[in-house]
Amino acid sequence: MSQIRRLDPVVADQIAAGEVVERPASIVKELIENSLDAGATRIDIAVEDGGVRTIAVLDNGAGIAHEDLPLAVARHATSKIQAAEDLACVATMGFRGEALASVAAVSKLEISSKPTNAPSGWSIRVEGGHEVQSRPTGRAAGTSVEVADLFFNTPARRRFLKTTRSELNRITEITRVLALGNPLCGFTLRHNNRELERMSPARTADERVAHVLGGDFVNEAIRVDMERDGMRLWGWVGSPNFTRSNSSRQFFYVNGRAVQDYLVAHAVKQAYKDIMFHGRHPVFVLFLDLNAMDVDVNVHPTKSEVRYRNSTGVHNFIMSSIYRSLRTDPTDPDRHVSADMLTTPTTGATATSSLLSATVRQTTLGFDESTNTRTRWWLREAVRTEHDVQTTQLNDELENPPATRVLPPLGTALGQLKGAYILAENDDGLVVVDMHAAHERVLYEELKSYSSKNELARQRLLIPETLDVGAQDAELVEELAESLLQIGLVVERAGPTTVKLREVPALLLTSDLSVLLSDVLDDLREHGRSDAIETRHHHILATMACHNAIRFNRRLTLDEMNELLRKMEVTPNAGQCNHGRPTFRTQSLSDLDHIFLRGQ
Ligand SMILES: Nc1ncnc2c1ncn2[C@@H]1O[C@H](COP(=O)(O)OP(=O)(O)OP(=O)(O)O)[C@@H](O)[C@H]1O
Ligand SMILES: [Mg+2]
Repeated sequence: MSQIRRLDPVVADQIAAGEVVERPASIVKELIENSLDAGATRIDIAVEDGGVRTIAVLDNGAGIAHEDLPLAVARHATSKIQAAEDLACVATMGFRGEALASVAAVSKLEISSKPTNAPSGWSIRVEGGHEVQSRPTGRAAGTSVEVADLFFNTPARRRFLKTTRSELNRITEITRVLALGNPLCGFTLRHNNRELERMSPARTADERVAHVLGGDFVNEAIRVDMERDGMRLWGWVGSPNFTRSNSSRQFFYVNGRAVQDYLVAHAVKQAYKDIMFHGRHPVFVLFLDLNAMDVDVNVHPTKSEVRYRNSTGVHNFIMSSIYRSLRTDPTDPDRHVSADMLTTPTTGATATSSLLSATVRQTTLGFDESTNTRTRWWLREAVRTEHDVQTTQLNDELENPPATRVLPPLGTALGQLKGAYILAENDDGLVVVDMHAAHERVLYEELKSYSSKNELARQRLLIPETLDVGAQDAELVEELAESLLQIGLVVERAGPTTVKLREVPALLLTSDLSVLLSDVLDDLREHGRSDAIETRHHHILATMACHNAIRFNRRLTLDEMNELLRKMEVTPNAGQCNHGRPTFRTQSLSDLDHIFLRGQ
């Protein structure tokens, strides 16, 4: 007798549901995304007991026709794509037609909906995948989905849920992630009848970001808006002084879809290299728009990861865009941007329509008006307008310094405090400079600029070093000999698993060469480029700078202090030492007046 039997469809559905519905927050995500796809401008979410008892999501979107209700909860039934080719250019959040079916398989589900022009609404109830009731219902246009008793028929799954608090945290988090990407839509979130979030549709691009990440982040954030090769990156990145101890405040959207992306996190971190305190993580809200054909959204069960056709290109574009954006401040004439890092800042109304081309097909399916599409147009334009205003002001100031400005930006030195700080006066008020940190940055940038001219100087090893790197890496060495040479490594294959290192960059002679080589190979394999050599170079230069910078308690003359201030003004990244600590702070006269209650 056959040992292999077909599973009962109900069991098969429960297994499939496990992929999509891991916990209450996964349901909240799917329901909000459905509402956004339906063009909602208002979404109200109410959950009880961390979402395990009930989850209800109400929207004012396009609604579902009466005859479509049973299909909405059927597996592989969707209104968002029709044919296999459509998968190559998805612009809606959903496309698989399985989210509601999965939720229905492991809960008691009720959907009630009224399309805008329908005379009345209908509701349908499904328990563990079986339809139990369908009836007319009086309601306003839009859709509400209520999920009760999650995992009532899969107790094993239920046992894996965490505490109410922890499930609720995840729900709050995913709501914020989606709200941040869709600021034109209003959101409310209630738990056990208590309101936790209320976000009205945003009127400015900054408003939603400020709501989620705080006003301080927005005030200090640097706006990014770069375009190259049909890709556009825009959004907010935190100043190097606004960092976190983990990467939880990093929000990234690809064609409007919130995704978690290791590649992007790595690229951004690289861009902050040596202007951020060691072990800290940057905060960012970034949107990448590219042709939908160049990104595969169908790679992850919960659609929270994507794959790029040219991942190296995306990595480099993101890194160079952020690098540029972080370093365009008045004290940075961009000297250290190498040619391959140059990207063209966007101008005027070019607004790349990668998104538009993505929606062309889906327009025919009626999804041109999803909330996400509209929002992105608005948000992108708003960011640019707000951003342009700032850029113009910045340039104006650089080219035509205000007539009233008589002192240099970092002022003239008044004296030294406790052997650690320089006090200076500028047009705005008081400048306090950490003299060791500031000198360290000045020296470091000088060393970098000097060594960039000589950094490819290679040194032949007296005795070539044979390294056993394994077959895979040995092959890679053979394949990438040219790229390795470009970063100063002369290395060749010596045997099935061994390679011979003949020359290395002079400054790295004393490094552990086998670790160096394997780091370089790892990078090349994963990201198509390696900064391991440059990073090590910079590390050595940073140590040299630190050891040679003025020490605590060293008395400086006023002339020496002024010389340091003038050097800082022309040094890139002078606002942070190379460990990422701030080098100076200003206290304006009005701040001081405020402290001393003058004029109040
Ligand atoms: N809030 C809603 N407003 C209007 N239509 C909806 C809503 N929720 C679901 N639908 C309709 O029900 C269909 C099935 O939804 P479901 O979430 O299961 O699949 P999907 O969104 O098409 O794809 P995916 O499984 O990737 O989410 C959708 O294609 C859509 O037509
Ligand atoms: Mg969906």
